[in-house]
Amino acid sequence: MPSTLTIATDGGVARVTLNRPDVRNAFNETLIAELTAWAARVRQAEPIRAAVLAGAGRAFCAGADLTWMSRMVGYSMEENLEDARAAARLFQILNALPVPLIGRVQGAALGGGAGLAAVCDIVVAADDAVFGFTEAKLGILPSMIAPFVIAKIGQSAARDLFLTASRFPAARAREIGLVHYVVPAADLDATIERLLAEVLTSAPGAVSAAKALIPAVAGRAPEDVFDLTTATIARHRTSREGQDGMRAFLEKRKAPWVP
Ligand code: COA
Repeated sequence: MPSTLTIATDGGVARVTLNRPDVRNAFNETLIAELTAWAARVRQAEPIRAAVLAGAGRAFCAGADLTWMSRMVGYSMEENLEDARAAARLFQILNALPVPLIGRVQGAALGGGAGLAAVCDIVVAADDAVFGFTEAKLGILPSMIAPFVIAKIGQSAARDLFLTASRFPAARAREIGLVHYVVPAADLDATIERLLAEVLTSAPGAVSAAKALIPAVAGRAPEDVFDLTTATIARHRTSREGQDGMRAFLEKRKAPWVP
């Protein structure tokens, strides 16, 4: 049983909640290990179709646990590297989770907490939530999360927000692509349920392949991905799932994956 997370799986949806509310869900080595282990289970074919990442209490996540990080001054370079690699692997595995990952942000998503938002596919934020890549204020920098954050917000916003390390509101987070929906806090769960319903009425194989296709084509010239995109659709339209889905539409039936 994880000690820093709660995990509830029902109806094909895993709801994972960071559960260190006293420190605003800041992550230490235990939380990193437990969240990585959960993501690894999903990758090894745990039968879920979507996941929601949330934080217990007043904030989504205050980033790295500063008490834990400040202790690292006594660690060797090799030990520091090992810790950094464990966190980087967490962001990687969440980023490539084979099912949609929906982030539920209330209160604050700062530092690595904003990094967690960046590796979610869809982020719903409360309109009073605050975001920030605040690391430079603490004498460190948003290093491991940079590839994932820049993939979402681009270099221009990253230059502003990494260098000023300023806090910014949910509306700005939406403008730069870190967040997709901004709603009153009371509407967070209903918005997430609506998104889950959309995901669950879409074909699981197609959803997963679409998620993998995005980073595979991003930033590449159309001619360079010609073979990939044509082979991908040819494979999917002749797949069992593709055939079932198209036939169900034409015959005005529910597709087999629709709950
Ligand atoms: N690591 C360790 N402890 C943290 C923490 C972090 N990243 N963020 C908050 N905490 C602790 C606080 O020290 C405080 O502990 P205490 O109760 O023993 O004093 C407790 O969590 C609650 O924090 P507090 O600031 O009182 O809560 P708040 O609800 O008013 O504000 C935040 C929440 C997240 C906005 C605020 O705590 C904050 O700005 N944290 C720093 C976030 C940050 O810069 N992270 C970048 C890390 S690289």
